[in-house]
Amino acid sequence: MSVISKMVNPLLDWYEGERRVLPWREEPTPYHIWVSEIMLQQTRVEAVIDYYHRFLARFPDVDSVAKAELDEVLAQWQGLGYYRRCEMLYRTAKIISRQYQGEIPADFATLLSLPGIGRYTAAAIMSIGFQKPYAAVDGNVLRVVLRLENSEECIDDGSVKKRIEEALQKVMPKGSTSAFTQALMDLGATVCLPNGAPKCGSCPLQELCQGKDSADRIPVRKAKKERRVEKRTVFLLCCNDQVAIKKRPGKGLLANMWEFPNREGHLSLAAVEKCYRGSVTPLAEARHVFTHIEWELRGYRVELEEKPQEADLHWVKKAEIASYAIPAAFSYFKKDL
Ligand code: ADE
Repeated sequence: MSVISKMVNPLLDWYEGERRVLPWREEPTPYHIWVSEIMLQQTRVEAVIDYYHRFLARFPDVDSVAKAELDEVLAQWQGLGYYRRCEMLYRTAKIISRQYQGEIPADFATLLSLPGIGRYTAAAIMSIGFQKPYAAVDGNVLRVVLRLENSEECIDDGSVKKRIEEALQKVMPKGSTSAFTQALMDLGATVCLPNGAPKCGSCPLQELCQGKDSADRIPVRKAKKERRVEKRTVFLLCCNDQVAIKKRPGKGLLANMWEFPNREGHLSLAAVEKCYRGSVTPLAEARHVFTHIEWELRGYRVELEEKPQEADLHWVKKAEIASYAIPAAFSYFKKDL
């Protein structure tokens, strides 16, 4: 019997007593699981909870998302980051509403074909939302299993992920796929912690674990590529009680979001004063870190006497700025309006 099959029962017993209380676990419908899993991609559980409640209050089912305007869905997402997830969720809601009568399809291959749903998310929906035996394997689950096996295989290697996915799939307990999937998630998030900080003393698998003494070396990973640093200058163009925002392009970083006008490079106060007729105030600098890029942001508030002739500027009342989906990188400057 492999160590992977031996872990099933102790893990399920542990989950029964130690599971985290999380809102999407209260009524784990496929829709709830889909929304929570998309929010949880790249975002910590604690950061997601409030957004999840608010999103469901406004959008209780797939059809309500599909019927809304994208801007309204983005506005609910504002602050969660990684906005492409939200756009893909919206596209998928439209497809499910039109082609599947608003019901999330209970088929792994169909789920995989939908925007924003990869193997992990499809498997989470299948196992938690539909009680079907699909293993949801992300970095946390890989770490748990590689340590359990005392394996020094590289965690970034796709073939390792495939092997572990298949091994877990084989031992998925019938009727308890939801508990098994979420037990692995919880163990990775609360006990088998990364960066040499696991709490082996409280682990339900400590007697089985072959990697207890190697947790500072496992998982082994490839060296990461460095982030590109980009300097940008952001303008709060104000005219009376209004401020200018712009729509970002439909493709690329922060696609379709609203932004304050900005350009590449750090402009000096004198350079900004040459660009605009009005009084210019420099603002505190900010930094925003994305997955592959880091922005060093320099901001200026410009009090204009009249609006410039820039066609792509959209003038909105300062008091109404909260109803526009402005990502965190730019929201930082809202306090200076
Ligand atoms: N991380 C990703 N999906 C999760 C879930 N369903 N519960 C807890 N943490 C998660």
